[in-house]
Amino acid sequence: MKRPDNLVLVIFGASGDLTKRKLIPELYELEKQNLLPEHFAVLGISRTKMNDEDFRTKMEEGIKTFGEATDETTLKAFLGKLFYQSIEISSQMEYSKIHERLQQIHEQLNTGFNFIFYLSTPPNLYPVIPQFLAAHHLNDQTKGWRRLIVEKPFGYDLKSALELNKSLLKDWHEDQIYRIDHYLGKETVQNVLVTRFSNGIFEPLWNRNYVHHVEITASESIGVEMRGGYYEGSGALRDMVQNHLLQVLGMIAMEPPTSFDSNSIRNETLKVFQSLRPMKQGDIVNNAIRGQYMASKFRGEKMFGYREEVGVDPNSRTETFAAIKLFVDNWRWGGVPFYIRTGKRLPTRVSEVVIHFKPTPHYLFSTSKNNNSANQLVIRIQPDEGILLKFGMKVPGQGFDVQTVNMDFHYSDLSNEKIPDAYARLLHDCMLGDSTLYSRGDAVEAAWKFISPILDAWKNDHEIPIYGYPAGTWGPEVADSLIEGEGYTWRYPCKNLVDDGLYCEL
Ligand code: BG6
Repeated sequence: MKRPDNLVLVIFGASGDLTKRKLIPELYELEKQNLLPEHFAVLGISRTKMNDEDFRTKMEEGIKTFGEATDETTLKAFLGKLFYQSIEISSQMEYSKIHERLQQIHEQLNTGFNFIFYLSTPPNLYPVIPQFLAAHHLNDQTKGWRRLIVEKPFGYDLKSALELNKSLLKDWHEDQIYRIDHYLGKETVQNVLVTRFSNGIFEPLWNRNYVHHVEITASESIGVEMRGGYYEGSGALRDMVQNHLLQVLGMIAMEPPTSFDSNSIRNETLKVFQSLRPMKQGDIVNNAIRGQYMASKFRGEKMFGYREEVGVDPNSRTETFAAIKLFVDNWRWGGVPFYIRTGKRLPTRVSEVVIHFKPTPHYLFSTSKNNNSANQLVIRIQPDEGILLKFGMKVPGQGFDVQTVNMDFHYSDLSNEKIPDAYARLLHDCMLGDSTLYSRGDAVEAAWKFISPILDAWKNDHEIPIYGYPAGTWGPEVADSLIEGEGYTWRYPCKNLVDDGLYCEL
């Protein structure tokens, strides 16, 4: 793989959790694989007073806790490339300090004048920082290239996303803006494209003629942990659906791109989002189900309810579970329902897509148990990354008993290599100037256009219930009624924790 040009990565919000947990440990992964530029540095920026040494000590802890530290020499050499500058981020004048530090770093490490600015601050600063950088000519590409990575959330609703795009585009070109969605950096999400477009057997079936419905699930067993303050203003729809799960839907539903360049792929994703059938006000109550986890007991231990979590309003109506039925109105998918489900404090951590094929038009083997002749293709995004095909086989012996069997591919069988973390992949892509796996402004807006009416209805229409579900179960039972069709339910890769103990089935 190519090594990027020399550069400095400037991280705003460097004293925060993301830098310590993800960004620095994943940069260190890249360093170990020799994928960082020959001359490279990180300049951490935030309000907290710290010097370079304090920052390095904190980042060393991060690597040791959340990453994989190796020998001390490699680690020390990497830590020597980390620098820190405290500034008052909302004061334009203070940005001259960044200029000075970048010059000093260049003199010390010969890093040059290519810069990536990573915004990992509270979102209210997203319009401010790029504007102040521009005021100090740090967007000017005459001496080197300049790129901006913007963390999620990109906007709070359609209006704020439009405003943010508009504000960024005043001083920066779309090609310079990288809107990160870490789901796109996941190996298995990218593999959806390879599965679909490098095999002749799937694509002919990948449409309304053969697909009955599609299910996309991202379930988490953890609760909101210490992020109650953030989550209260977000909820599951903004936190997971508007970005991560719609991006997965984009990969599943897109038309084959004409080539593998960034714009061809992103054009196709955009078209999927533009084809999402807007949900009518009166349909929201039935097609968008929301829930909130309640206290429960699991194996004798108390699990807290969402309203008891730190930073959460005891009367909160924020959803920790969302299940939606939607349609992609185009020739390929006309009439095929897509079901999206996500939630916190569900029985297990699993993200997967299930393509449910239509059953055979006539069924010969009517006596068989456990088989409805409808094949399923399960794309496991995480954990146990892989692909599972379920189909019917004759049980050996008299008669024609058919049983559903599994053809199961595990990524771990393909290679002993550790599956790279999404952040490592995305940071490296940005260094190389490849924006394929980043969201484009128009697609983010199209996704918000679909989601915003649901958010508005949930906020304003108090007739729309928010269902409680005991922590450790698969969300409110009413979500089951979304999936229509005889014998169809959500796929439950693992039964409820609360009643049944941990029991997984494939
Ligand atoms: C983040 C959300 O974007 O994605 C979190 O803010 C969520 O609430 C996380 O836990 C899930 O990511 P992953 O990679 O663990 O599926």
